[in-house]
Amino acid sequence: MMNWSCAGKLLLLPMQIIFCVLKAAICLVLPTKLRDLRGDIVLITGGGRGIGRHLAREFAKQGAKKIILWGRTEKCLKETTEEIKQMGTECHYFICDVGNREEVYQQAKSVREKVGDVTILVNNAAVVHGKSLIDSDDDALLKSQHINTLGQFWTTKAFLPRMLELQNGHIVCINSVLALSAIPGAIDYCTSKASSFAFMESLALGLLDCPGVNTTTVLPFHTNTEMFQGMRVRFPNLFPPLKPETVARRTVEAVQKNHALLLLPWTMHILVILKSILPQTALEQIHRFSGSYTCMNTFKGRS
Ligand SMILES: NC(=O)c1ccc[n+]([C@@H]2O[C@H](COP(=O)([O-])OP(=O)(O)OC[C@H]3O[C@@H](n4cnc5c(N)ncnc54)[C@H](OP(=O)(O)O)[C@@H]3O)[C@@H](O)[C@H]2O)c1
Repeated sequence: MMNWSCAGKLLLLPMQIIFCVLKAAICLVLPTKLRDLRGDIVLITGGGRGIGRHLAREFAKQGAKKIILWGRTEKCLKETTEEIKQMGTECHYFICDVGNREEVYQQAKSVREKVGDVTILVNNAAVVHGKSLIDSDDDALLKSQHINTLGQFWTTKAFLPRMLELQNGHIVCINSVLALSAIPGAIDYCTSKASSFAFMESLALGLLDCPGVNTTTVLPFHTNTEMFQGMRVRFPNLFPPLKPETVARRTVEAVQKNHALLLLPWTMHILVILKSILPQTALEQIHRFSGSYTCMNTFKGRS
């Protein structure tokens, strides 16, 4: 039988939910206090090129104290580091394959010793194999899970404990709308993004009682970088790709406003609602109409 305390809490719950919804709505229209980044050391995985490079620029523009870039290709890491230094922000790069657990722990130690405590970690690095399950090489399938999903386990395990000690930290995940609405032809990528989404949800709930440490998950639509280069979509004017600078600007803003979830563009919320109410056959018609079920056959993938 339910006791009085439990019944009281149950009655309170709808009021708490309404309060949170109202607060979020007010925050949408009123200017909110932004996180001051001047004390922050930001580490961006895959920071040498693509969205990662734009994130480095945007964090520097918004006043971050130091920026650290991780990636596998020295040339682009070096170029981006030089660019950020020219903007007047201290910047360092480290060669690190996030799919290699030992390398992540080793480089995280070097970062702490040479640069300091990371307070904002941006898990951005990813690859896409871009083939169907049957056509995919087993090692390529494993590689995307190691980089896109497990890589985040290792980076987060490496930096989160110190953030908890300092009561100051933010874990950011650059995910994808494909985490919520998969398409064929990139089965490795969609699976890794869906599991990374669950990782972030679980992590965020686990941090509920940890003051000063927060998370942001970003779910962008197709973005104009090398990742899906060559991909042909059926209605490019109806669904134009996002600019990587827009994704970077909105991500940094979401971190500064401490927003847990960011869908880009906002119209992707409609997709989420439709997915939860429409029958599967109706969703299939939407996929056929948009051509999303064939577009993945038009690009090569990126490893
Ligand atoms: N482009 C899109 O349409 C789109 C849409 C939604 C979400 N996203 C997400 O946005 C993020 C950035 O993608 P992007 O579009 O900027 O792609 P990109 O241009 O291909 O860049 C990927 C970045 O990840 C790095 N990377 C790949 N494997 C790595 C590894 N094992 N260790 C360390 N770094 C690694 C790459 O650097 P190295 O090769 O030098 O290692 C590169 O800097 C990804 O998480 C992607 O899933 C992209």
